[in-house]
Amino acid sequence: MELGLKDKVAIITGGTQGIGRATALLLAREGAAVAVAARGRERLEQTAAEIRAAGGRVAAIQADVSKAADCKRLVAETVQAFGRLDILVNNAGTSATGEFAAATDEIWQADFELKLFAAIRLARLAIPHMKRQGGGRIVNLTNIGAKQPRAKSMPTTVTRAAGLAFTKALSKELAPDNILVNTVCIGLVRAGQHEAKAAKTGVPVEQLYATMAKDIPLGRVGRAEEVANVIAFLASDAASYVSGSSVNLDGGASAVL
Ligand SMILES: NC(=O)c1ccc[n+]([C@@H]2O[C@H](COP(=O)([O-])OP(=O)(O)OC[C@H]3O[C@@H](n4cnc5c(N)ncnc54)[C@H](OP(=O)(O)O)[C@@H]3O)[C@@H](O)[C@H]2O)c1
Repeated sequence: MELGLKDKVAIITGGTQGIGRATALLLAREGAAVAVAARGRERLEQTAAEIRAAGGRVAAIQADVSKAADCKRLVAETVQAFGRLDILVNNAGTSATGEFAAATDEIWQADFELKLFAAIRLARLAIPHMKRQGGGRIVNLTNIGAKQPRAKSMPTTVTRAAGLAFTKALSKELAPDNILVNTVCIGLVRAGQHEAKAAKTGVPVEQLYATMAKDIPLGRVGRAEEVANVIAFLASDAASYVSGSSVNLDGGASAVL
């Protein structure tokens, strides 16, 4: 399938680990120039070196996307580096779940800044460039828990539910400008956050993944590359009639459509 990503310009937030890194590598391999954003300098440089070594074009931009000023600089530096902006992948995030009584205002606020306001601010900044170019793609990462919240799953399930509503409302508003907006609802995927948890608790990582896979019909936790494939499709010309959709990527685990 021809994805038509050659010479497109993409921002991938949280592009140095897990799903974001896999997405950046794939989009670059398909010919897009990628701006990879994260806070950690070392991993940014590693990811950029890997993309360059494979012949890709990359800008490594150190940014904390939960901060408005960093979002502004990220879009400005991307356009400065590559001259346009076609694709925005709002991927940066981390798990934030626990007992409702333990979640302070600060915890709620931090989750909204990282998972919702980053997507809102970056979309607001990216849209004028996309409109000027006659179209664009926005892919928002959310969580399957947004559609079927469990006990002790806040604030994440609430911020992610807002992400779903944001995606749908924005898709309707931007369709006349040929800017397509979709979300990928993640179940459980192998990633840095799980490896950090395994290291912290002393549980071998494969044992942790086996435990996590118990209720997944496909019998395993997903791989970042499997999510990147879907994001690349949604970002591509091949998805030219897909907007306002949410794709469940959970190995069949959720009970919702
Ligand atoms: N993996 C799963 O099972 C799963 C399940 C549900 C939802 N998701 C969602 O899917 C997305 C990707 O998850 P993942 O598991 O692939 O993540 P990951 O491996 O933990 O990587 C997270 C990435 O986001 C970056 N990041 C974190 N906070 C940031 C900030 N404030 N500003 C800029 N970059 C930031 C990290 O780099 P720095 O730390 O250097 O900034 C890193 O590159 C996240 O939104 C996550 O919540 C994942």
